[in-house]
Amino acid sequence: MKLKSIVLGLSLIALPALAQTPVYLDVNKPIEERVEDALSRMTVQEKVAMTHAQSKFSSAGVPRLGIPENWMSDGPHGIRAEVLWDEWYGANWTNDSCIAFPALTALAATWNPDMSALYGKSIGEEARYRNKNVLLGPGVNIYRTPLNGRNFEYMGEDPYLASVLVVPYIREVQKNGVAACVKHYALNNQEIHRGYINVKVDDRALHEIYLPAFKAAVQQGGAWAIMGAYNQYKGEHCCHNQYLLNDILKRDWGFDGVVVSDWGGVHDTKQSIFNGLDMEFGSWTNGLNWGASNAYDNYYLAMPYLQLIREGAVGTSELDDKVRRILRLVFRTNMAKERHFGSFGTEAHALAGRKIAQEGIVLLQNNRNLLPIDVRQTKRILVVGENAVKHMTIGGGSSSLKVKYEVSPLEGIRARVGSSAEVIYAPGYASPAVAEQDVKGAKAEQKEIDPVALRNQAVEAAREADVVLFIGGLNKNDGQDSEGNDRASLSLPYEQDALIAQLAAANPNTAVVILSGNAVAMPWVREVPAIVEAWYSGTEAGHALASILFGDVNPSGKLPFTFPARLEDNSAHALGEYPGDSINVSYNESIFVGYRWADKQKKARPLFPFGHGLSYTTFAYGKPIADKKTLLPGETITFTLPVKNTGTREGQEIVQLYISDKKSSLPRPVKELKGFSKVHLAPGQEKTVTFTIDKEALSFFDDTKHEWVAEPGKFEALIGASATDIKGVVLFELKE
Ligand code: GLC
Repeated sequence: MKLKSIVLGLSLIALPALAQTPVYLDVNKPIEERVEDALSRMTVQEKVAMTHAQSKFSSAGVPRLGIPENWMSDGPHGIRAEVLWDEWYGANWTNDSCIAFPALTALAATWNPDMSALYGKSIGEEARYRNKNVLLGPGVNIYRTPLNGRNFEYMGEDPYLASVLVVPYIREVQKNGVAACVKHYALNNQEIHRGYINVKVDDRALHEIYLPAFKAAVQQGGAWAIMGAYNQYKGEHCCHNQYLLNDILKRDWGFDGVVVSDWGGVHDTKQSIFNGLDMEFGSWTNGLNWGASNAYDNYYLAMPYLQLIREGAVGTSELDDKVRRILRLVFRTNMAKERHFGSFGTEAHALAGRKIAQEGIVLLQNNRNLLPIDVRQTKRILVVGENAVKHMTIGGGSSSLKVKYEVSPLEGIRARVGSSAEVIYAPGYASPAVAEQDVKGAKAEQKEIDPVALRNQAVEAAREADVVLFIGGLNKNDGQDSEGNDRASLSLPYEQDALIAQLAAANPNTAVVILSGNAVAMPWVREVPAIVEAWYSGTEAGHALASILFGDVNPSGKLPFTFPARLEDNSAHALGEYPGDSINVSYNESIFVGYRWADKQKKARPLFPFGHGLSYTTFAYGKPIADKKTLLPGETITFTLPVKNTGTREGQEIVQLYISDKKSSLPRPVKELKGFSKVHLAPGQEKTVTFTIDKEALSFFDDTKHEWVAEPGKFEALIGASATDIKGVVLFELKE
């Protein structure tokens, strides 16, 4: 009896202890309590293991405690196919073909936060379903030069536009229990010398141009991860940079997430320990002899770090801060209380991509209203150009995707036209074949190319067509829109300019569609009635483009960056250094990037300005008025104006608000974007567009005081349909 009562008693004591869920495992406990509890249970080895990669795209959890690994995935436009454990090649899984969403320049060109939210929700669901808890995107590096190979992954030249559009993407991704990892922080504005170039830029440009989108990502988007850039700033690699990471990102902005290095962006153990890095991925350390089993043990934050701790050379307080942040990431994602289950390769995601693409396509020119094409009056359509058939979701570096499908422009046009007209195709030009990226041992079979014959064949066919649709531009080959290198010129490659000119001469009804992530020169701009920038639109590219070309959808996109007429009209090439001397690159142009530079030029005019985009309908802007003439600090001022659809079909118009400081103690741009609103109007409908700003919108970064200041004095609010198409101006004053 006695024994039984003892056993019973013991079990009663043990029961609560056994039943007591450890705090870190209790999803109902506050995250910070879970973090501290988990941290207290971890050994130093387990903590160090968490701070560096264990494979190409994963880092260790704590198996003993049931804390899962962190799995990262590229990229900003879709969930990359599974990669081998320790090689860049695809693992040839058969269940990881994703939906490719439009490139982020296309998202930026929508000027629509709702599209950014739809984008983040959709890609977040794909990442969640593939069990990735960190999405390596979005990218928000500012478009400084049209030659940067990775501009297609970013959101244009204006910090305000990028700041507004990056936030919904992040928030919606993270609602899936997947961290957005905003990149590349910071000043990664070229690919040439990207791994080491030291960027020299003044504080005004740093704070006014290059940091705002990252600041918005952290403070408004609540980003859970940030990726350090490859380049250097103030002589330190951005992946372990005291000023950018500890001073600005973590101290000033209050970032409580994880700083992840770019792959191979780490170069020093002590700097990694003390300068704000939390997780090291893909470093080219001595351990990286391909496939070596202990490669990851040799990472800077691996054995070398553990060694320093064991020797007493460094303490563990920095390690605990790194691990707190990583545990916070885990409890926000893999071990979060409510975690969605995601979905993958769905029609809903494909249609979301199509909608974003349709809203991002920009009608640059439409003389004689050549577009949209009316198939009832068009019997013979000639499609010319390699980009009409080339798959653009593959290649271009780390954003390359293995997609469930991709509708090419030609397929989209053929599907849309059906039997109501004849659609003929002529390549017109050809680019060199490239080995398929991520496929081990892939070869590129160079086909015999006779450019003259290709061109002549297309020009001959053009003479017989009712309409010619030239679909060209750039592609994802090296030296085009691709990571790791930059373009060599502003011009279109593969002699497309000559072909376009000859097509236009052979048939006046020629429309040019450019697929690109960058501005291109257009020497034929006056010879071609219609020009469309269609970006890289992803899985549904062909259907999105066809819906615009044939008028099912009214184009409403506007340019997120300036198209200069000549490369030397761009400030990085007129005033700044590019690409630098391979050691340093100086951003001498300072804050005068994009339209901020173009506005100051007396002679050179942009080919197409920032914020430009046409519609198949027309809009009339009424006179803008302000609700006050003078603004006191702490107050807001509201501008309103009527906008009317004066055409015969529905459409969307992006109304832009620029602010001009009429007198300032430091040089300022003529004007700067401080508001925009995309408004949908039925034919004949008029709506009142409203902008409310406060003195923050009037401020500039005073690098002598090292703070943002709004100086009292006169300002103008300029309402425009683009940076050069100003419809109305309102004068107002900021008082002390
Ligand atoms: C690449 C890119 C980065 C990408 C990472 C992983 O070098 O710079 O954007 O997410 O490595 O592929």
